[in-house]
Amino acid sequence: MAQPNESTSTPQPQAKAASTDDPTGGLGSFALISDIHGNMDALQIVLADIKDRGIKRVCCLGDIIGYGPNPCECLDLVMNNCEWALMGNHDFAALYEPTAFNASAEAAAFWTRRQFELEEDPVKRRRRWEFLGSLEIRHQFHGTLCVHASPRRPINEYVFPDDVITSPSKMAQIFDRIEKRCFCGHTHVAGVFTDEPDFYPPADLNGRYRINNGEKCIINPGSVGQPRDRDPRASYAIVSSETVDFVRLEYPIQTVIDKINEVPELNEFLGQRLLEGR
Ligand SMILES: [Fe+2]
Repeated sequence: MAQPNESTSTPQPQAKAASTDDPTGGLGSFALISDIHGNMDALQIVLADIKDRGIKRVCCLGDIIGYGPNPCECLDLVMNNCEWALMGNHDFAALYEPTAFNASAEAAAFWTRRQFELEEDPVKRRRRWEFLGSLEIRHQFHGTLCVHASPRRPINEYVFPDDVITSPSKMAQIFDRIEKRCFCGHTHVAGVFTDEPDFYPPADLNGRYRINNGEKCIINPGSVGQPRDRDPRASYAIVSSETVDFVRLEYPIQTVIDKINEVPELNEFLGQRLLEGR
């Protein structure tokens, strides 16, 4: 099968813009953000970049909170800027309970929940809880499925780049649940899975995946607030009718580390990993 960036399909005419082949659903380009993890400094830089590019629509694949020092601010920014947002495992943890979390993730989840409880304004407090509780598990449009984690287990299953080698049957089962495309986060690793199966990090695609409608794909925009692909810059993607562009942006990491270090419930490792992008 052709490499994703070697699509031979001809450009689609304007009249096809709202067809099921259009990953924007005919509504125009949108920015896809995920795994913000309470990192307000990274989110502000990303939202400013999206605005500078004139992109009006922003959609969020979940994990708005958890790990980072500014959960309330991040939730407010997503509430005020995103067209829709999904439930991630860390959003679920703060709202309901942490499941299968390690000790530092669990401590961070309970601290995060406390920050929402400490809000003195009852209207703000209630609005945040209601928003968290209304996050979608799945969002679907025009042959596109959006989940936080995977089509099989939308909140919790990791789809790792290595799975294309080590778990081809897992990848086959996951692709079986996708009509054309899936957008997901959760691993904090940006890139494109094709149903060969194969995985292409953005660097292998020169930062752009060209939608090939004969090829199923799973696209991960990477993480805004806690990248884990050894690149510490904030990551997001821009989805257009024929392409997905991967964007990386520097942000003041040390500011976030200093804030994490001021909170005893947030493990120092959570700051250190931001510097290393892991
Ligand atoms: Fe996450």
